[in-house]
Amino acid sequence: MNSPGAAPWCPDLSGRIGPLYRMIAAALHDDIIAGRLPPGTRLPTHRDLAWKLKVTVGTITRAYVEAERQGLIGGEVGRGTFVRDPSRLPELPAEPRPGDNLVDLSVNSTAIWQDMPDLRAAMEAVSRDDGLTMMMGYTPSSGVDRICRAGAAWIESCSGLAVPVDRIVPAPGGQGAMHAAFAAATRPGDAVLVEPLTYPGVRPLAAQMGLRLLPVAMDGDGLIPEALEREATLHGARTLYCMPTLQNPTTITMPLERRQAIVAVARRVGLTIIEDDVYGFLDESTPPPLAALAPDVTVYITGLSKSLFPGLRAGYVVPPAALLARVVTAVRATVMTGSHLGAVVATELIESGAASRIARRRRAIVAERQQMARRCLGDLLTASNPACTHLWLTLPEHWRREALVRELLARAVKITPADGFAVGRGEIPQAVRICICSVERLETLSTALHVLADLLQEPAMADLALV
Ligand SMILES: Cc1ncc(COP(=O)(O)O)c(C=O)c1O
Repeated sequence: MNSPGAAPWCPDLSGRIGPLYRMIAAALHDDIIAGRLPPGTRLPTHRDLAWKLKVTVGTITRAYVEAERQGLIGGEVGRGTFVRDPSRLPELPAEPRPGDNLVDLSVNSTAIWQDMPDLRAAMEAVSRDDGLTMMMGYTPSSGVDRICRAGAAWIESCSGLAVPVDRIVPAPGGQGAMHAAFAAATRPGDAVLVEPLTYPGVRPLAAQMGLRLLPVAMDGDGLIPEALEREATLHGARTLYCMPTLQNPTTITMPLERRQAIVAVARRVGLTIIEDDVYGFLDESTPPPLAALAPDVTVYITGLSKSLFPGLRAGYVVPPAALLARVVTAVRATVMTGSHLGAVVATELIESGAASRIARRRRAIVAERQQMARRCLGDLLTASNPACTHLWLTLPEHWRREALVRELLARAVKITPADGFAVGRGEIPQAVRICICSVERLETLSTALHVLADLLQEPAMADLALV
């Protein structure tokens, strides 16, 4: 035990992980709480401890600042830094606890806060509608026709895809649309080709349906046609699931030539394409969907969770004529129909023009937040598409994704490592996804991004404790 006065305290860092300053602060915390450093003990100067530990003075300063933040030590100008009495401290957490004030940037939700007046107006209009009773029954015959006409208009306005109204099948959200498309296009045991990093909702779907997901290599323009042809032939796969526009998570949008090449391969090897376009509305300058290039082999799906509201559980499937009956059967066998109420409110929003207004506001919010993120994270976002509701951030050389996610969580900010999207056993890039529309206040997002930017500047010291 050290007696009060000048103390030759030296932290034991063995077995600790994380940035060095936090390992030192944690060792200090443990020694104080365990009584090894009694109240009043004078700690070594920043310079002495830095010399002893062979680290920079700045690291010791940060460690002491962290311990001071926790109320464990205090400085007196000219006299030094002293241990406080831990029994007289309020209960302070050693670090922010995930769960309390957690800034969750891991969910790709959408910025709905400003759109409530439009939603309320649509719901009121629907509740006054003479057709409400009819629409709330099992078979809202003319209602379904209206839902499909609005769906066709919406899809055309977002993607340019002209869709025959009788080809639209309403589904419960994007996930419901995916389920119906997969059920129609595959058989249990099938191999389904996917991007190597893909929307995680496809994994439980495949597991439940007894499908094998096989990754196809991508480059900066999306799926590589030669790789697609090779994998399809090798595994006898008959289905491809992909996101040509603002791919989740990489944000890549396939240019037109790449789309044409993918469609050509699909025709050559007999693939049905399931094209997921839930983010298409965010970028008005994207090339035509695969379904416009090859409507006979493409099941187009979209949902209104990102463009309107997740709670509507509204989406659409547009299958080729040959798969229409199977898609209808799949919806009927699982959920009977999509949510009429959600679909009718969505229809009202589309018909009244409110949906276009909302989509414009969403694009403006994304643009504002993307600019903010770029000011904060700079070059690390060069490969991340600025039209997207999330960032795809490639880590600087000295960071590993697990360490970054863990360290950030300790600072009460949650993001997703590339692992969350990976299919197969290929190499996973050192990258993370950060959703920028999941928190309402811009200041909250700004603070979280600055915490991230600061952390990225630090050396990742996790390995120092390893020998
Ligand atoms: C690419 C993609 N497809 C489908 C979905 C599911 O959409 P929904 O929330 O409407 O079920 C998501 C949700 O994040 C998604 O990112």
